[in-house]
Amino acid sequence: MDRHRFKQLILIIGPIVRIAPNTLSFNTASALSTIYGPRGANVKKGEWYRTFDIAAGTYSSFTETDREKHAIKRRWMSPAFSVDSMKANEPLIIDIVERFCETLKPADSGWGAKWNMSEMCTYLGFDIMGALVFGCDFKTVQEKENRPLANSVLPASGKSVSDNNRLIDYASSQVETQLASGDSEKHTTEHRIDFLSRLIGVEDKKTGWNPTFADLSTESLNMINAGADPFSSVLAGAIFYLVHNPEALEKATAEVRGKNLAYLQLRITLARVLWRFDVRDAVDERGGRGKKGLGVGGERGEFQMWDALGFGRDGPMVEVRVARGE
Ligand code: HEM
Repeated sequence: MDRHRFKQLILIIGPIVRIAPNTLSFNTASALSTIYGPRGANVKKGEWYRTFDIAAGTYSSFTETDREKHAIKRRWMSPAFSVDSMKANEPLIIDIVERFCETLKPADSGWGAKWNMSEMCTYLGFDIMGALVFGCDFKTVQEKENRPLANSVLPASGKSVSDNNRLIDYASSQVETQLASGDSEKHTTEHRIDFLSRLIGVEDKKTGWNPTFADLSTESLNMINAGADPFSSVLAGAIFYLVHNPEALEKATAEVRGKNLAYLQLRITLARVLWRFDVRDAVDERGGRGKKGLGVGGERGEFQMWDALGFGRDGPMVEVRVARGE
């Protein structure tokens, strides 16, 4: 479907266009959060979704159109996307991204080989999601013979039904392996638990719903696709715009590198501190704030600094508390 046509219609008619019977296309910034947000507008997913992964035997959180059943699936999956799960998996993602960079790295100091970023980003997406969902090291980026599974989502593969079946079979085999081991702890390391392990044998406390084998296969397959495909498209798109806009590329490069080691240091430190702790003002004399008697400019509520070799400062005094899940 050529979505440019929607844009033409929107320019003529306005931000809400009836593009087909019972189908409205919204083009406002607020529509996204209104439709997809937690409170949920009075909308229902279309029947098209029901055709998508039915070959796997049931619907996933993506394709389930019944609101109640969908809500159960979202509750079921939420521990996989919790803050502690994200934190535990962060080193794994960083490791896979590092290996991706090592693969792209030229042998010498000159420009290296040409890389198709739609493909390479898809392989990266699969490697990340394989690790997160199944605890597997796909090495799709590094090893060509491991790529057929990931190629299933590349339009160039052109064999949608057989490729989809291959993905379904793979997800089912992973579920089988984990169920057979009877021990989801097997996939647990000190710091992380793969998503599938978090889904197996978990009952919905509110309704008593228990996931079947098909639910586990469909949902893990959905997570692999949902996590790998849009991520790689956005990444490839971002790289496209950067390499076509030298000024933006230069700016982005400068922001993450070099003279900006200081910035990087700051960013990582600040991010780490806020990630690990709740932080608050400790209410103390040496709070670092301006106060009466400090003269012109010193009486406002700003952070106070004074001339020294660099600059003098005292405070702020803060208290930290370990963040939930840390
Ligand atoms: C840049 C990255 C991503 C983008 C742009 C993106 C975009 C989207 C969009 C637009 C939808 C709604 C699709 C629809 O209802 O038709 C969606 C759903 C979904 N995405 Fe993502 N996504 C991204 C990353 C991820 C990741 C990393 C995961 C991890 C597994 C994920 C899991 C899901 C799931 C499970 C759904 C179905 C949710 C539901 O309907 O309740 N996505 N995503």
